[in-house]
Amino acid sequence: MSALDFTQTSTARRVDDDERTRILAEPGFGRYYTDFMVHARWTLEDGWGGAEIVPFGPVQLSPAAAVLHYGQEIFEGLKAFRHADGSVWTFRPERNAERMQRSARRLALPELPAGDFLSSLMAITAADEPWVPEATSEESLYLRPFMFASEEFLGVRASHCVDYYVIASPAGPYFPRGVQPLVVWISDEYARAGAGGTGAAKCGGNYASSLLAKREAAENGADEVMFLDSETHSSIDELSGMNVFAVTADGRLLTPSLTGSILEGVTRESILRLAADRGLEVIEQQLVMSEVLGQIDRGEITEMFAAGTAAVINPIGELRARGGSWTVGDGGSGEVTLALRTELTDIQYGRIPDRHGWLTRL
Ligand code: COI
Repeated sequence: MSALDFTQTSTARRVDDDERTRILAEPGFGRYYTDFMVHARWTLEDGWGGAEIVPFGPVQLSPAAAVLHYGQEIFEGLKAFRHADGSVWTFRPERNAERMQRSARRLALPELPAGDFLSSLMAITAADEPWVPEATSEESLYLRPFMFASEEFLGVRASHCVDYYVIASPAGPYFPRGVQPLVVWISDEYARAGAGGTGAAKCGGNYASSLLAKREAAENGADEVMFLDSETHSSIDELSGMNVFAVTADGRLLTPSLTGSILEGVTRESILRLAADRGLEVIEQQLVMSEVLGQIDRGEITEMFAAGTAAVINPIGELRARGGSWTVGDGGSGEVTLALRTELTDIQYGRIPDRHGWLTRL
């Protein structure tokens, strides 16, 4: 059921046309923000209300706001894509709405009805329409819905006041080097999430806990970090903000099964479907790190890639660890990886038919 009606308080733009054109020419990832943001508030007494579209700008919070102390926060990530006819679309938003509800349950936050989630995306995209990059590029407008505990209270319990926002940021490639094979560091010390924890929820804490390992990866010349399961440190979980896949020489696509500590990526789910459609045998199972390294050494695994909304599909050229390094295939961008990437983005940008009905017009 949809109840919120997002009303715009001002139409004055924050960024002038020339500046916006300059930004859209090379947006990078997460560096620039649009003119507006969407806001709604939930209180224990009244539920959801106060839906508005306001100028993008600082959020005022009490220093005693619960989120600043106990991290009660969740978020989502989607993209708005412009098609050749000028229309603007997003990809499987109902899956993000459902995941945000699952994350909310795990973090004891209120669930935002799926209809309100979708209308918040429509509201920000309508207000910030000039920020959706042209169809000629491989760029998009990244939408970041999030909610957090805003009650001024230091007792440890679920907040009685929660703020929901959607901000938007024009996005090019997630990795600064573009879509180039990644070097991935295998973390032997840190885990991202444990059994019974919040690993399957999209909450800030999971990303905060990945940062030290990510810094260690960078110190070892790697672009990303791969986390192993927290209990045995033997099987692959995921990267710091992406799911991970391997392609075998005999036509299988492998990815870790959803154990409860892995994020249920919308891109992950879509790739599994596209891969099955093109005849790959799709296998979700526990991926034992030592076995994967052996399969790389023997040439049985020929490609690996990282996948997520922000990263799309990005080849992995090398795995690196304290004990050595393993070149995946020829270290370049694999054929299956690139074919899946092309097909996924062709659907998203409306260049081929949306045969699974994954697109929603904004
Ligand atoms: C996304 O892919 O949308 C994420 O939230 C991951 C983050 C690394 C940007």
